[in-house]
Amino acid sequence: MVKICCIGAGYVGGPTMAVIALKCPTIEVAVVDISVSRIAAWNSEQLPIYEPGLEEVVKQCRGKNLFFSTDVEKHVFEADIIFVSVNTPTKTRGLGAGKAADLTYWESAARMIADVSKSNKIVVEKSTVPVKTAEAIEKILVHNSKGIKYQILSNPEFLAEGTAIQDLFNPDRVLIGGRETPEGQMAIKALKDVYAHWVPEDRIITTNLWSAELSKLAANAFLAQRISSVNAMSALCEATGADVSQVSHAIGKDSRIGPKFLNASVGFGGSCFQKDILNLVYICECNGLPEVANYWKQVIKVNDYQKNRFVNRVVSSMFNTVSGKKIAIMGFAFKKDTGDTRETPAIDVCKGLLGDKARLSIYDPQVTEDQIQRDLSMNKFDWDHPIHLQPMSPTAVRQVSVAWDAYEATKDAHGLCILTEWDEFKTLDYQRIFDNMQKPAFVFDGRNLVNLDKLREIGFIVYSIGKPLDAWLKDMPAMA
Ligand code: NAI
Repeated sequence: MVKICCIGAGYVGGPTMAVIALKCPTIEVAVVDISVSRIAAWNSEQLPIYEPGLEEVVKQCRGKNLFFSTDVEKHVFEADIIFVSVNTPTKTRGLGAGKAADLTYWESAARMIADVSKSNKIVVEKSTVPVKTAEAIEKILVHNSKGIKYQILSNPEFLAEGTAIQDLFNPDRVLIGGRETPEGQMAIKALKDVYAHWVPEDRIITTNLWSAELSKLAANAFLAQRISSVNAMSALCEATGADVSQVSHAIGKDSRIGPKFLNASVGFGGSCFQKDILNLVYICECNGLPEVANYWKQVIKVNDYQKNRFVNRVVSSMFNTVSGKKIAIMGFAFKKDTGDTRETPAIDVCKGLLGDKARLSIYDPQVTEDQIQRDLSMNKFDWDHPIHLQPMSPTAVRQVSVAWDAYEATKDAHGLCILTEWDEFKTLDYQRIFDNMQKPAFVFDGRNLVNLDKLREIGFIVYSIGKPLDAWLKDMPAMA
């Protein structure tokens, strides 16, 4: 029986391995992590991450051919194929601080593999890593090899949170990069055989190591770029009276552009886009390509601009101050159908409003109060470290309360901000919300989710990104 071990039981390691176990009953899969609480949660009724369909998959295989364990060394020792899916945060200090990927966790995983292995292994990079990481990993393994042979493969993950299980069941492509030697090709084939249990052959792409590593960074950069492009357009729409949804629809009909990922919003978030673009920018700089670096840096700058612009719209609309005013924040996760708050635009928007002394009442169907308080008091980039290594959050932010539903959050509020596109926000009783709010009552829709005409009929003053502005907002500039 082929044995797979995955180091890192996070948003990628957990779902990917659960699907491999489901689709390959003849393979034994162990997912290991240094975080005791995370492994305990994977073994409990309350999984550590929320992802539609995940629980069903885990329940079908757990205890049969899918195991979650903290005994990292035992499972690495026994495995034929080792996936490494640990976090790759942005460095916070030293060379490349604020840009380069911090490979501390990766390196320690590689050294541990070298220490405990007694048989040949295929080591698979599942984490998103800088180009040429495989070379560094290879050096660590080979220099400590005791005669054991290692093959390094790059198999970046393209799943999107919120649709992870669907994406894993039916991937657009699986990418496997390896050495162009006979041994490298054999390792590629071994991994291809795993995916071939359910992925059609023509969707499994094989490349050299560096193309695979770079393709993941490039894919995220292109995706984020589309969002920043449409968000940049949204600012111009507001200035001219054009409607960004109409513009997106019109340009998306061009098959060279396509309709996906063209929704204007308060900005992109999630653990990957910013981190991976910063990483790409750093690699370009290190390779003497400042023009290329600046080109991609702009994608992040526009994202920051969009979040600032949103905060400024809120403050300027409400008579240039939100001091002491209750503002309801609806949605805190970085997108719907996930409880993940890593780099969510809600953090910057909330911090911006808190900076102007607002009182916030936050509601998100999947995010806990504890998580929200941690996010609002944590330093930039600290979130991307294993939970038990994160600094304890200082005292909770006092101007923030967390509500158990949207009605509670909006009661007596002066304004409400929609920051995540949860479906339930579409069908709320906005008349009831309006009746219970202070007047004038404002809605700031950061996801273009509400029906503008209906809300205006009720009596709200509504701002929706990239849409023709209410007369109220027209005279109030978005950027100071
Ligand atoms: P995560 O933070 O949820 O999970 C990483 C896990 O690795 C943590 O539970 C941590 O405790 C564990 N870990 C760290 N060092 C370890 C060690 N030495 N031994 C054992 N366990 C260790 O991160 P996530 O989101 O799963 O991401 C992992 C990688 O996959 C990152 O490089 C990310 O860029 C990439 N990725 C993430 C996607 C996403 O949507 N979250 C999608 C595609 C790629």
